[in-house]
Amino acid sequence: MSHADGSQPQARQEKAWGGVFREPTDKRVELFSESVSFDRRLADDDIDGSIAHARMLADCGLLTVQEADAITHVLEEIRGEIHAGRFEYSVSKEDIHLHIESALTARLGDTGRKIHTARSRNDQVATDLRLFCRRAIDRLDHGLAELQRAFLGFAEREAGLVIPAYTHLRRAQPVLAAHQLLAWCEKFARDRDRLADCRRRTNVLPLGSGAVAGSSLPIDREHVREALGFGAIAANSLDGASDRDFAVELAFVIALTMVHLSQWAEEWILYSTQEFGFLKLPETFCTGSSIMPQKINPDVLELVRGKSARAIGNVQALLVLLKGLPTAYNRDLQEDKETLFDSIDTLEAALGVAAPLVAGTSFDRERIAATIEKGHLDATSLMEALIAQGVPQRTAHETVGRLVRLAMTRGVALADLADEEFSREYAGWNAPLRGALGASRAVERMASFGSTSPASVAEQIAGWRQRLGAAATP
Ligand code: ARG
Repeated sequence: MSHADGSQPQARQEKAWGGVFREPTDKRVELFSESVSFDRRLADDDIDGSIAHARMLADCGLLTVQEADAITHVLEEIRGEIHAGRFEYSVSKEDIHLHIESALTARLGDTGRKIHTARSRNDQVATDLRLFCRRAIDRLDHGLAELQRAFLGFAEREAGLVIPAYTHLRRAQPVLAAHQLLAWCEKFARDRDRLADCRRRTNVLPLGSGAVAGSSLPIDREHVREALGFGAIAANSLDGASDRDFAVELAFVIALTMVHLSQWAEEWILYSTQEFGFLKLPETFCTGSSIMPQKINPDVLELVRGKSARAIGNVQALLVLLKGLPTAYNRDLQEDKETLFDSIDTLEAALGVAAPLVAGTSFDRERIAATIEKGHLDATSLMEALIAQGVPQRTAHETVGRLVRLAMTRGVALADLADEEFSREYAGWNAPLRGALGASRAVERMASFGSTSPASVAEQIAGWRQRLGAAATP
């Protein structure tokens, strides 16, 4: 069929899915709907998926072995060109899947035109994205392990140092600095655990689901599962091609990890202020002010805290993207990628600076020692010593409360009160009770599992060392 003016309709050449269209796509639509500007990041996964698919098709007699060999060879050639920055992209070819397929066809003709046998871009993109996420999860897990190692190394360097722990941001009880640092290892361990759990549900093969209903051709999905290292095969083609739960889960795990990083950043920003003066951040990780010559600012920590906002927002964006979708693939799903990529990139970038920052930070031991007996951090220790001698907890609490009030009015520490002053508040006062006073003693008297007692902290350090292996290089 030709146009009235005798020219050939362009649609047949321009559209990858040719046939039914009589008109080419409007240029504005091409621009609006393209995804190649961002889904080109799936290129490696797309090629891996296509090679596995081609080998399977040959195994099932849908391609000859020679055809599968030629496809594999050319796909690797295309991969090389993409890596070398020699591959040409154009919005007219919509997405990375069409780009790679059309490059294949341009070089192999009819053989290339067979690669899309028993495949739809719906199950293709779902497969690519899962492969991409699986790789990202493994990198993030590695980055988190590095960060844990940095915290562990810091804890080992600061063995024995006692610092105040805060609740409500008020001085609460003394703890070993190492105990405080290892608290972060716990949080990141849970994040890694969540990543591993998310990986299990990500690691399911959609390819073979087709567009929505599967295929009438004799394909072998187990072959592809095995080749791509997936743990399972999507059991329902409607769900397989459209499930994005794994994307939401990953975005959430990333958001929660970023929240942990943000809390850490906030704490260290505070601890490194002149007012607190606990921490000395590495100068290489601080920045100056364009107007105030004296400023040494913790911008890296502020940006870690600030970037958590987008990771949190991305979870919301993905949930809203999915909430109105009827079963199976809808083009809306194309919007999942930039959001997810942003979350992954954000966490990866944050981890990249967090670990070396931790490795380069130290405590200001003198400054901490100068104020450690301020704030009656040993009050709870004294209360528990009274309880150990048989005083009911509520009575012991009140007694120590009155002693703290007395010390406060006199502007001294509990340990500075005279025996007569103690005896006036507690008739049974005796010398061993003094052993509960002072920040270091309060720490040493701790005994419960998971407490800040030196034995508990030594056990934690040994446990982490065993789990995390060798020390990180600063
Ligand atoms: N670029 C699309 C996406 O990211 C690929 C799948 C398109 N499928 C379709 N039937 N239009 O979701």
